[in-house]
Amino acid sequence: MAKLIDGKKLAGEITAQLTEEVSRMKEKGIVPGLVVLLVGDNPASQTYVKNKEISAKKIGIHSVVERIPASITEAELLAKIEAYNQDETIHGILVQLPLPKHIDADKVLLAIHPKKDVDGFHPYNMGQLFIGSPDKIPCTPYGIMKMLEAYQIEPEGKKAVVIGRSNIVGKPMAQLLLMQNATVTMTHSRTQDLPAVAREADILVVAIGRGNFVTKEFVKPGAVVIDVGMNRDENGKLIGDVKFDEVEPVAGFITPVPGGVGPMTIAMLMEQTVANARK
Ligand code: GUN
Repeated sequence: MAKLIDGKKLAGEITAQLTEEVSRMKEKGIVPGLVVLLVGDNPASQTYVKNKEISAKKIGIHSVVERIPASITEAELLAKIEAYNQDETIHGILVQLPLPKHIDADKVLLAIHPKKDVDGFHPYNMGQLFIGSPDKIPCTPYGIMKMLEAYQIEPEGKKAVVIGRSNIVGKPMAQLLLMQNATVTMTHSRTQDLPAVAREADILVVAIGRGNFVTKEFVKPGAVVIDVGMNRDENGKLIGDVKFDEVEPVAGFITPVPGGVGPMTIAMLMEQTVANARK
């Protein structure tokens, strides 16, 4: 039976520390501010943004959520971002992805000042990460590294396999594991014999966005299995990319969905927002 990696508990501990820190900052007149821009009505995005808002308020962060109709033009959205770049009460700017098709997401991410880019998606911050000098780090892979650390799972020398090559998760995840001296293999939907490649992994990170995709055939006995998936099954139940009931008896460690990676993503967003205000 695998040991459960309790992301919810760890995120709660980090949140408690941040709450204390923010109350001390407020005594000095500093209030960390975070703005989240949500364009359109993607239901998953609405849930993510709601959870970010709840967490920010709990910590005492000045939280601004702009829910913007999908009809906004790219130029109008860029103008809003520029205004927040100039706003001294705002330390973090996050544009929830995906954006409607008529808006160029790359252009939008480029418009956020790199210092306020608490998602770590700006090409400057991505570049800093990939040369090994990160400042802002994409929150999901950052949260996963914190979970490994908390459970004393040392990537050094281990074989790590990442399934999924997104800019948000897969690529930065591989780089963070590499920085900790893991031997990293990137895989994706076109990888041949993916189960065999995944079975080599001591640490398996799954971010492919397909419910129950990873079965026990993908998992070496004792492996650490990190599930980034957030999918809905036919009954609307939240499920991961990993078939939990089947993999859990084989794995050494496993993250649940919900209660694993998701809460840690939010905690890292809050951490990077408070860190910015601290500076
Ligand atoms: N969409 C899915 N995950 C994320 C995230 O971490 N940040 C943003 N901005 N959009 C997302």
